[in-house]
Amino acid sequence: MQNEPLLSVSNLTVDLLTAKSAVRPVDEVSYSVRQGECLAIVGESGSGKTVMNFAPLGLMPSGVATQLSGSVRFQGQELIGLPEREIRKYRGKSIGFIFQDPMSALNPVRRIGRQIAEMAELHLNMSPRAAEERALDLVKLVGISDPAARLSQFPHELSGGLRQRIVIAIALAGEPKLLIADEPTTALDVTVQAQILRLLKDLQHRLNMAMVLITHDMGVVAGAADNVLVMYAARGAERGPVDKVLVNPRHPYTKGLINAIPRREDPVGSEFRGLPGVPPTLGAPINGCAFAPRCEFAVAECARSRPPMTATADSSVFVACPIVNQGKAAA
Ligand SMILES: Nc1ncnc2c1ncn2[C@@H]1O[C@H](COP(=O)(O)OP(=O)(O)OP(=O)(O)O)[C@@H](O)[C@H]1O
Ligand SMILES: [Mg+2]
Repeated sequence: MQNEPLLSVSNLTVDLLTAKSAVRPVDEVSYSVRQGECLAIVGESGSGKTVMNFAPLGLMPSGVATQLSGSVRFQGQELIGLPEREIRKYRGKSIGFIFQDPMSALNPVRRIGRQIAEMAELHLNMSPRAAEERALDLVKLVGISDPAARLSQFPHELSGGLRQRIVIAIALAGEPKLLIADEPTTALDVTVQAQILRLLKDLQHRLNMAMVLITHDMGVVAGAADNVLVMYAARGAERGPVDKVLVNPRHPYTKGLINAIPRREDPVGSEFRGLPGVPPTLGAPINGCAFAPRCEFAVAECARSRPPMTATADSSVFVACPIVNQGKAAA
């Protein structure tokens, strides 16, 4: 289909089964990303952001059995149900990724140049010689000075910010159409965070990539994304264009996250305005709205059934809240 988004996820549900537990960290979530667009996925720890993005690509740790249902279409191709050897063709090539754990991304005992070049050999079928040239180009692309010298260094010889630039270079080695960046700035100092975010945005535009930016920080959403999906306890709470959701948040959880963004006028040392309470554990069944126990607006109806994502009067914004959705049709 000509107008089909690059990535189109609908009613994605993920069940994880380990020897000890069965959980559903992703429960009927839908969203899409168009070429050149940035979607931020935001939510507290444990809300399912990482699993939702990596389970459909077969990137779950060993010891976990993964069951997927719903649909994940990339460039028109359904990924759910594809055999592993087919999914592997997308990983690191047309879909690049940056993992949440920066330590796992680089091999500590191999030189940086080799690690980047290997990706180019693997994904673009380059000769070792051509791949080495590509590694040099990539290191320049991610804004590293003295690139030739850096290629012969080991990861521990670089600062956190430089290491993250190398991780980004590796993610770009296969010339991806979509980059999934899982908390790419969380492990960095505040000033370096801003530089890395700027670099990612700049690369996204220059390479006309789509980007899924996973974060728990509404400030990052405001600075980088076109659209946002707010996750709460395995489900979507609100989704829509950033300029609408941040200016006029409708879900009480989105309001709480925005209220927690530190403001310039906050006095130094003032208390962090986090959300009171904690999210539910996923092991126990949730009947009503999962946010109701923390919601200052909750009414009896909120405990009855889990609210579906529903289009608001502004049809580009969807909200899963019984109070906001009263009288509106389900999406
Ligand atoms: N390897 C695993 N084995 C068992 N359960 C898991 C595993 N990974 C994730 N889960 C379950 O899935 C839930 C969602 O995890 P996920 O890593 O997607 O959260 P997240 O939103 O990315 O959180 P964070 O912001 O901390 O990265 C967890 O709360 C946990 O119950
Ligand atoms: Mg995560």
